[in-house]
Amino acid sequence: MKKQLEEILAKALSEVDTAADEPTLKAAQVAYLGKKGALTAILRGMGGLTPEERPVIGALANEVREKIEAAVGAKLSDIKAKELEARLAKERVDITLPANSKKPGRLHPLSQVEKELSDIFVGMGFTIAEGPEVELAYNNFDALNAPADHPSRDFQDTFYISPEVLLRTQTSPVQIRAMQGKQPPIRIISPGRVYRCDEVDGTHSPMFHQLEGLVVGKDISLADLKGTLEQFAKIYFGEETRTRLRPHNFPFTEPSAEVDVSCFVCGGKGCRLCKGEGWIEILGAGMVHPHVLENCGIDPEIYSGFAFGVGLERVVMIKYGIDDMRHLYENDLRFLSQF
Ligand code: PHE
Repeated sequence: MKKQLEEILAKALSEVDTAADEPTLKAAQVAYLGKKGALTAILRGMGGLTPEERPVIGALANEVREKIEAAVGAKLSDIKAKELEARLAKERVDITLPANSKKPGRLHPLSQVEKELSDIFVGMGFTIAEGPEVELAYNNFDALNAPADHPSRDFQDTFYISPEVLLRTQTSPVQIRAMQGKQPPIRIISPGRVYRCDEVDGTHSPMFHQLEGLVVGKDISLADLKGTLEQFAKIYFGEETRTRLRPHNFPFTEPSAEVDVSCFVCGGKGCRLCKGEGWIEILGAGMVHPHVLENCGIDPEIYSGFAFGVGLERVVMIKYGIDDMRHLYENDLRFLSQF
């Protein structure tokens, strides 16, 4: 019996040793140690032994089992380690290869400027109002005190959808929308697209962007307008920036002004950017015309207001020294990726 046990041990160990994978190893384990295994069969036969032989063979059988179990255990971790190694080798990533990186996008310079300007005015307490690009002629012209014979109303200048509906030529109709059915205080800005029948050239486009501003309340004066725009110009173009108002005419403001800022490149001495002027025009503005307030149901005896409209393309072009407006619409990444 002792010899049998030794044979079983030798066979089991060699089978365990040659098992190449887990199923084969498990099969060997069952074949020797399982309920119907070779070792179990021997132990069952111990009844036929003498009382002297029994403990000797029993101890030996235990020893054999322990040795087989230990071998199975060792082999199992060996197989697992090899499998892991093989998997790692197969799934290996070459971290020295250049990454397949996605180029991050960015906001278009026009969107950037729109956001920057909006942030400044929101910081001053303005809220952002929106209006449609397809607008009523009434809001775009009539309510804004633009008389029936005003040249901007001409078919040559405005895209009409019907005699009453058009593509807005300015963001100013949002003033009307902000005032209609509401009472002051009102303090809004409104950035957006506007449309005019212009041929495309270096400084014109049939579609461009404006940012409108409107403040209506008690005792709002030209000083408030100047102070607000001065503050804006200092934040945006630099602390040294000075502001000047030149008389102008808009149907919906009285008085009206064009607003210039001192050239932020030369500081006012005159350079290429300001064409030797020392000043750069950036927006139109004025005190809201009493007719406009009346048209919106606001009493001009009690309330007054100011409004302004900035051309965003103009600001972008000045800020970055862009000499042709068409660059802003061509979506050429060589151009856009500079911002
Ligand atoms: N809407 C005017 C324009 O397009 C600008 C403007 C806005 C002027 C508000 C005065 C007040 O030229």
